[in-house]
Amino acid sequence: MSLLDQAHSLRELANRTSNDVQAVVSRRRAAATSRTIAITSGKGGVGKSNITAGLAIALSRRGQRVIVVDADLGLANIHLLFGVSPIYGLPHVISGQMPMEEVLFTGPEKVRLLAGGGEVAEVAQFAPDERQRLLTAMKQLEEMADFVLIDTGAGISSNVLTFLASATELLLVTTPEPTALADAYATLKTVAKQQLGTRMMLAINVVGNRTEGEATALRLVKTCRQFLQMEPEIIGLIPRDASVPIAVRRQQPLLTAFPQCAAAQAISGIAERLLASKAVVVAGRTGAASAGAAKSTRKITSRL
Ligand SMILES: Nc1ncnc2c1ncn2[C@@H]1O[C@H](COP(=O)(O)OP(=O)(O)O)[C@@H](O)[C@H]1O
Ligand SMILES: [Mg+2]
Repeated sequence: MSLLDQAHSLRELANRTSNDVQAVVSRRRAAATSRTIAITSGKGGVGKSNITAGLAIALSRRGQRVIVVDADLGLANIHLLFGVSPIYGLPHVISGQMPMEEVLFTGPEKVRLLAGGGEVAEVAQFAPDERQRLLTAMKQLEEMADFVLIDTGAGISSNVLTFLASATELLLVTTPEPTALADAYATLKTVAKQQLGTRMMLAINVVGNRTEGEATALRLVKTCRQFLQMEPEIIGLIPRDASVPIAVRRQQPLLTAFPQCAAAQAISGIAERLLASKAVVVAGRTGAASAGAAKSTRKITSRL
């Protein structure tokens, strides 16, 4: 099955009553009270899991009910950042072995976790019944939380795309490195082609200084505008911060171990901006809709 076919059948599963994909997706998002944000990247090791864990805690501290889904099935490891070791998780739900209530793990600061790993990790592409169970699970999670944060694998495998299609918003993480940027652009291109109508946000991590962060963000946004007729919203610049690897080694969430460090502050800023901005439904190719956003890009980065 091609990626496009898979995304299509996923949407059909989501609502069997209509073939009008965009309408279905828009209706579902308009009705949703919770927000499902997929944190993704082109290249691996750019900080997705740390940002996901940080956002989860920052949002929880602001009174939000948060569930983190470890969808990086091959390299599932976000539980390590929370310093917990759940036995069961997403693979057991996808395979139909266990119900959701029994696998959700309550971690630090009231953040609940649907851990990854296990045998499903070996599967490159979900079977139809697995995809159906995943969709049902995602709907269940939405009912139990204000924010569902999905930590996806890097790149666009068909499984990653399945998770992206189940999210209302996408947060793409990149670093200023040319390789990470090229992969980030390739990911945006693939996602834009799918016309999922997902809000696209961009965070630049491991930024050396503000100028570098801004230049990186603007370059990527400009390229998207020129070649994809869409542009991601810049939601945050996160500095390179020696506290991050220290917290990782201690297996403590960054926001718990070093709440005042620059990276923790930047991640908290992203949480604030997420709370301030409602989920918006945009067309896959936003074109004119994003012209205003283009002009205000500089203004946005000056506030980060
Ligand atoms: N802002 C940062 N400053 C310094 N190091 C970072 C930062 N963000 C991430 N890292 C380092 O990068 C490594 C990979 O991060 P991780 O969140 O596991 O990436 P991913 O989930 O994208 O693979 C971490 O172990 C951490 O040491
Ligand atoms: Mg990760």
